[in-house]
Amino acid sequence: MTDQPREAIAILDFGSQYSQLIARRVREAHVYCEMFRWDAPPDRVLALEPRGFILSGGPASVYDPGAPTLPAYVLGSGLPVLGICYGMQLLIHTLDGRVAPAREREYGPAQAEVLDPDCPLFAGLPPALDVWMSHGDRVEALPPGFAAVARTADAPVAAIADVSRGLYGLQFHPEVTHTPRGPDILANWLHRVCGLHDTWTPGSFVREAVARIRAHVGEAHVLCAVSGGVDSAVMALLVGQAVGDRLVCVFVDHGLLRRDEAQQVLAVLNRHLPAEVMAVDARERFLTALAGVEDPEAKRRIIGETFVRVFEEEARRLRTADAHLAFLAQGTLYPDVIESDATERGGAAVIKHHHNVSGLPPDMSFKLIEPLRSLFKDEVRQVGRVLGLPHKLLWRHPFPGPGLAIRILGESTWERLETLRKTDAIFLQELEEAGWYSRVAQAFAVLLPEARSTGVAGDAHKFGQTIVLRAVETDDFMTASPALLPYELLTRVSSRILNEVTDITRVVYDLSTKPPATIEWL
Ligand code: XMP
Repeated sequence: MTDQPREAIAILDFGSQYSQLIARRVREAHVYCEMFRWDAPPDRVLALEPRGFILSGGPASVYDPGAPTLPAYVLGSGLPVLGICYGMQLLIHTLDGRVAPAREREYGPAQAEVLDPDCPLFAGLPPALDVWMSHGDRVEALPPGFAAVARTADAPVAAIADVSRGLYGLQFHPEVTHTPRGPDILANWLHRVCGLHDTWTPGSFVREAVARIRAHVGEAHVLCAVSGGVDSAVMALLVGQAVGDRLVCVFVDHGLLRRDEAQQVLAVLNRHLPAEVMAVDARERFLTALAGVEDPEAKRRIIGETFVRVFEEEARRLRTADAHLAFLAQGTLYPDVIESDATERGGAAVIKHHHNVSGLPPDMSFKLIEPLRSLFKDEVRQVGRVLGLPHKLLWRHPFPGPGLAIRILGESTWERLETLRKTDAIFLQELEEAGWYSRVAQAFAVLLPEARSTGVAGDAHKFGQTIVLRAVETDDFMTASPALLPYELLTRVSSRILNEVTDITRVVYDLSTKPPATIEWL
């Protein structure tokens, strides 16, 4: 840990599918960074006081009409720059070198030969590196001052450097796992070229976040909606450190929870949070609001809105004793921020609206604070560890705010919720007992629409419902693959469900990857 002020890097995103990974790798090298669209207003980017710029890859070619350009403030700043793929070509193009279409697109693994062992990017690395290429253009002439510092069989210019100006470029992608020493190359640029220190640590985040919350909310009270998940627990601890007994934690039971969840969550949270958690039983209210609703986006909107109305009422009730209960803390994470930034400007398509991001009614009476909006999920867990949260809570699978409503295709009636609760409990219990719960990122059951599936019971025909089991492996929840659970485990779960949940006659296991599927069914 260090007491030095936080240093930052600005990443300009030119549309690569890997851009978010660059941000993760920089953070993993203990340097704070934020990502901006390449055409973000300069004062927004410069407000970060960056100590260097990374230019991401992107799908365009620098010579295409209308292709994204290098904003003048980047080179104008005199700060170090690292261009990756399109970013490297843009640097070359802007500084009057020449980039042209390659005869063949170079895609996939390659070996890079380091041509200049003294280049700071490759300090401490072997002379041959496995790298990942994905480009259709090649460098034909370097601008004055630059030298090629690595090459591959197909790309004579795989890395470039102008050491005196601190300008570097990589044709390959150091941020993907297929470039195993990529993190070292990035760390070399951050530490040796930009001269940055390890200032991004969970401890430094806690100090800054607490100070920022304190300055922002003044003497007001802050309402923290806690769910039992790691994000809201970390948020409540941070807010608690910032405002002391002006923290009010509320847990809403919306009736869409898993079996025994409300009791379990309250017991754990009350052990670890600085304020007693107030439980609000709003089951009837949510289910009434959801009656007859089948469309998933409508469910999310109704749940988001009902949540806020419940908090507003709690705040009004408490205000008779405590004045100024004005802020609502929300657990927005950095990937949500990146995605909504891209969406606002016509970038990535909106796949679904997570209820906490866009389900909030515009007329709500709270001001929002989002203390985790600069963090990735794994960073939230690291902060939670520093704050003393137990392992079990830190590694609890995420559970969506709209709960089981988005795991029931069709209407969320109490009866169908009960069927899903029983099934889900069997699946999770068996996963725990087989040691698989902690080996998957998320596991749950989904109840398909009421279309009846034929079965037999004894000698009679029996019609029943279908349950889907889903378990996925993922680090960042942006992409995911199905967990390859052992057949014995799956068949044991299936047999228990078919025996113990009378309404179910069919159990299937979901083998879809994300993309194209999402993790949840709705
Ligand atoms: P998807 O289904 O988008 O899920 O692949 C990615 C992660 O987000 C969770 N998720 C939600 N969380 N409100 C939430 O709070 C929502 O509306 C919502 N939808 C999906 C999902 O459980 C997974 O962890």
